[in-house]
Amino acid sequence: MKKEMILVTGGTGYIGSHTVVELQKAGYPVVIVDNLSNSNEEVLDGITNITGIKPEFVKADCTDMEAMKALFAKYPGIKGIINFAASKAVGESMQKPLLYYRNNLDTLMNLLDLMAVHEVKGIVFSSSCTVYGEPDENPVTERSPIKKATSPYGNTKQISEEIITDVINAGAPFKSIILRYFNPVGAHPSAEIGELPNGVPQNLIPYLTQTAIGIRKELSVFGDDYDTRDGYCIRDFIDVVDLARAHVIAVERMLEDKSDAKIEIFNLGTGNGLSVMELIEAFERATGVKVPYKIAPRRAGDIEQVWADPSYANDVLGWTADTPIDDTMRAAWAWQCRLRDRGIM
Ligand code: NAD
Ligand code: WQD
Repeated sequence: MKKEMILVTGGTGYIGSHTVVELQKAGYPVVIVDNLSNSNEEVLDGITNITGIKPEFVKADCTDMEAMKALFAKYPGIKGIINFAASKAVGESMQKPLLYYRNNLDTLMNLLDLMAVHEVKGIVFSSSCTVYGEPDENPVTERSPIKKATSPYGNTKQISEEIITDVINAGAPFKSIILRYFNPVGAHPSAEIGELPNGVPQNLIPYLTQTAIGIRKELSVFGDDYDTRDGYCIRDFIDVVDLARAHVIAVERMLEDKSDAKIEIFNLGTGNGLSVMELIEAFERATGVKVPYKIAPRRAGDIEQVWADPSYANDVLGWTADTPIDDTMRAAWAWQCRLRDRGIM
């Protein structure tokens, strides 16, 4: 059966590009819209090298309603949307809250407006485990309490979930699946696509791989005195390809009307918490490369520990994140080496 067209906003970004690959592999025609504020057009070549299919690409800002109308006029076959486009740096959102509220919320609201007009069947939304804040207990389920957001970025995810819920409860003629990602890491095993951090990385894995390759002197491990099994923060690190696969299942579920629910929420994680030190050890074990590090003070605002109960997604979507962490670390390292070989980083 011929698959319907999917619009992937933010599709040249980290998670978006991996998702485009999985969509193409599943037979979906894809249109990417991205303003290239945090990615570049060469990602399209990486995708094409993996799948042999060059995705349609529109350089536009999703907050620009006229540009988005023109996009829907050009591609009237769009039946599903995956909305990755957003600004995502937690620290920057504290400095520039309006930029975050405008970019993340206007993008979503424009899409919701256009979906009704163009008979789009569903939208997958990228949410985050940040909505659970510091959880009272782990693992967190989709019913765990939502905590007051501690950054404008986190708040945009909570507000976006509420906007989608309100719009659908008000009778909008489409469905939505909200996916709460835990900590996405790794890269495509081909090393054709991966994460491209802007400037000094704020997240653990890009900082770690840049240190291992010599761009950074040493990794600062933020805090060794947490109330956890080894004193380090614990996260649920999920392989980006596993994460990408879940989006294909979610899109299919909406387009093929596999559920009566108009709105569904799923945690996407492995179910296993790893400490920061355990992750460093996994990287060194998997790659044979040493990571110079020092213990540094705690980072303000960090969550002590959070990991997912992914059983709802496992049962309902028939999806599991099953890439072994060592494979994920090897892929992250291969990607970092590829960036060096191409003279990019
Ligand atoms: P990313 O920055 O790599 O990708 C986002 C893409 O969206 C970029 O290519 C950027 O250029 C584009 N973009 C931003 N604003 C846009 C706009 N107004 N119009 C068009 N394009 C725009 O980020 P990512 O890590 O791939 O994250 C994708 C989504 O997942 C985001 O919504 C993010 O908040 C969410 N998320 C990410 C993580 C994570 O740790 N990476 C965790 C949870 C949720
Ligand atoms: C992980 C662990 C750090 C860097 C952030 C956002 C969250 C979500 C994912 C989108 C922490 C430690 C890090 C370093 C370190 N994004 N660390 N040295 O903080 O779990 O989540 O990204 O929704 O909203 O807040 O991810 O990769 O920054 O940190 O020791 O140089 O690694 O303290 O314990 P985090 P992270």
